[in-house]
Amino acid sequence: METLSLVYYSPTGTTQKIVREIGQNMGLKLISDNNIAENKAESITETSNNCLTIIGMPVYAGRLPITAIKTLKKLQSIQSPVVIVVVYGNRDYGDSLLELKEIAINCGFKIIAGAAFIGEHSFSSSEKPIAMNRPDKQDLEKCKDFSGMITEKLKDIEDISTLSELDIPGNYPYKKRNQLPATVHPKTDNNLCDNCGICVDVCPTNAITIKGTVITTGELCTWCCACVKHCPKGARIFDNPTINAFKEKLFLNCSVRKEPIYFV
Ligand SMILES: Cc1cc2nc3c(=O)[nH]c(=O)nc-3n(C[C@H](O)[C@H](O)[C@H](O)COP(=O)(O)O)c2cc1C
Repeated sequence: METLSLVYYSPTGTTQKIVREIGQNMGLKLISDNNIAENKAESITETSNNCLTIIGMPVYAGRLPITAIKTLKKLQSIQSPVVIVVVYGNRDYGDSLLELKEIAINCGFKIIAGAAFIGEHSFSSSEKPIAMNRPDKQDLEKCKDFSGMITEKLKDIEDISTLSELDIPGNYPYKKRNQLPATVHPKTDNNLCDNCGICVDVCPTNAITIKGTVITTGELCTWCCACVKHCPKGARIFDNPTINAFKEKLFLNCSVRKEPIYFV
C-alpha cells in the first residue's frame, strides 16, 4: 500500500478530525482529502489498487445522511481496500456502519476494517452539552490505536480477493428515515448577523442564501448545524420546541461517555 485517500461528509468537523487522525498515522502518502459536505460539485474521489481509502460518515437518526449517500455511491473501486468509519454523538450508531459497509461493497471496495467513533453532537451547546469537545485527546489516541490495527492487518494480507467479509452490527431492513418538517431549521438573529456569508458557504445543501438578510429554505435544511457551529457571531440559532425537546432528551439520556468500537 502506497497512498491514502480520505472521503468523508463532515458539516461540523468531528468526522473530518477523526478520519484525518486515523489517516495521518498510517504512514501513507495522502493523495486526496475530500469533504463531501464542502464539495458541492459532488466530485468523485479516485481509487486504485495501491491506494487505501478511508470513508467517514456522521450518523443521522441511526442512518447515514441522505445528502452524503448520493455522492458516496459514485465512488468506484476494483477491489481496492477501504476502512469505513461512522461518527456519532454519543447516543447510538444504529444501522449506519452496516449501511456504509453495504455501500462500500457495492462501489467495489474490499473492507479492511470498520469503526464507530464519537464526536460532539451537532445539537450540543454549552447549556446542554452532549459529547462536548469530542473527539478529545483520548479519542485521538484511539484513532492511533485503530491505525496501528489497520497497518498490521494490511501487512498480513497476501491476496485481498480472499479476504473474508467483516461482520458489522445492524439490522435489515434499516430504520425508516423521517421526513424533516420544513418549518424546523436554524434561524438568524438579525441583531447579531453581519451578512458575512459563512453560513452560505458551509451549508452542504445550499439551503441558505443572502438577499439583504439571511434566508433559509426549510425544505433543503438537513439540521446538520454547520451554520450554527461555524457562525462567528453566534447569530444562527436552532431554538425550536421540536429541537429543544430533542436536545433535552439527549442531554438527559446520553451523557454517559461511550467509547469507540473497532471491527478489524
Ligand atoms: C440530523 C441529525 C441526526 C443525528 N442523529 C444521531 C443519532 O442517531 N445518534 C447519535 O449518536 N448522534 C446523532 N447525531 C449527531 C452526529 O452524529 C454527531 O454530532 C457527529 O459527530 C456529527 O458529525 P460532523 O461533525 O462530522 O458533522 C445526529 C446529528 C444530526 C444533525
